[in-house]
Amino acid sequence: SILYAVIGDPIVHSKSPIMMNRAFLETGINGVYVAFHIKDHALPDFVAGIRAMNIRGVNVTIPHKQAIMPLLDAIDPAAQAIGAVNTIVNDNGKLTGYNTDGIGYVRSLKQEAMPQLQGKKIVILGAGGAARGIVYALLQEQPEQIMLINRTVSKAEELGSSLQAYCMEGSVLQACSPEQTERIIAQADLVINTTSTGMFPNVEETPLDTSLLSEHTVVSDLIYNPLTTKFLLTAADRGMKTHGGLGMFIYQGAYAFEYWTGVDAPVSAMRDVVLASLS
Ligand code: ATR
Repeated sequence: SILYAVIGDPIVHSKSPIMMNRAFLETGINGVYVAFHIKDHALPDFVAGIRAMNIRGVNVTIPHKQAIMPLLDAIDPAAQAIGAVNTIVNDNGKLTGYNTDGIGYVRSLKQEAMPQLQGKKIVILGAGGAARGIVYALLQEQPEQIMLINRTVSKAEELGSSLQAYCMEGSVLQACSPEQTERIIAQADLVINTTSTGMFPNVEETPLDTSLLSEHTVVSDLIYNPLTTKFLLTAADRGMKTHGGLGMFIYQGAYAFEYWTGVDAPVSAMRDVVLASLS
């Protein structure tokens, strides 16, 4: 069989092996996907191991998404712009780093909640690593504007200026000042929570009061533990369309699978097996 892997620290709770092995089974591809617990100091040895064992594909998770980059032979331009790699493709010993998190999120969003992003007004809550990947991918969809709202406003400003170069004509990317916030939120077509607010075990927390939103707003949360956060529950109660974080996990894996195999990922089988493992 052809070997695939995911690395992280911690890694024991990863759902990637269950999801990817199901994808290999479904498509009849003779692949085996395993999880390795790799500490920081062992990262260079692991990369030597990819070459030595001819591992075809690797997913990279926390805390290695940045540190892996200088150890690879090439970095895809989008991964370079995002500053993080979550997928490695090994072509006969040449290791290329990609980032499928942001595009995975966008594919999930379009598939499950909002088919058309062009011309839309988008609000991002949070300005960390997760926000960065998603904003980069959303900019490719030519939204009218992306407004960044963060507890620490200076971090939103930094994120906005560092991705300005990827903002196409007709789109605006900007940090939201505290005075603008209420108006910007009320006008949003889409609000995305990228912060950890509401994640298990703090399930009663919400990143924003949904009474500030208009009923036409689509509300999205990257969190998938719980599958439906309190933020999404309160939005649904007010009649808004909602989108949870599980799809981002499924589709980041779907893109990785497609990069490695060239075969369309069996998305619904992948989702079923992950859902079954969560309950
Ligand atoms: P990730 O890679 O998951 O994005 P990160 O880079 O540490 O993690 O970013 C976390 C983001 O969540 C930040 O925008 C952070 O806000 P600050 O920049 O002000 O720290 C936001 N965040 C985390 N906990 C939060 C909380 N309790 N309330 C509001 N924002 C929070």
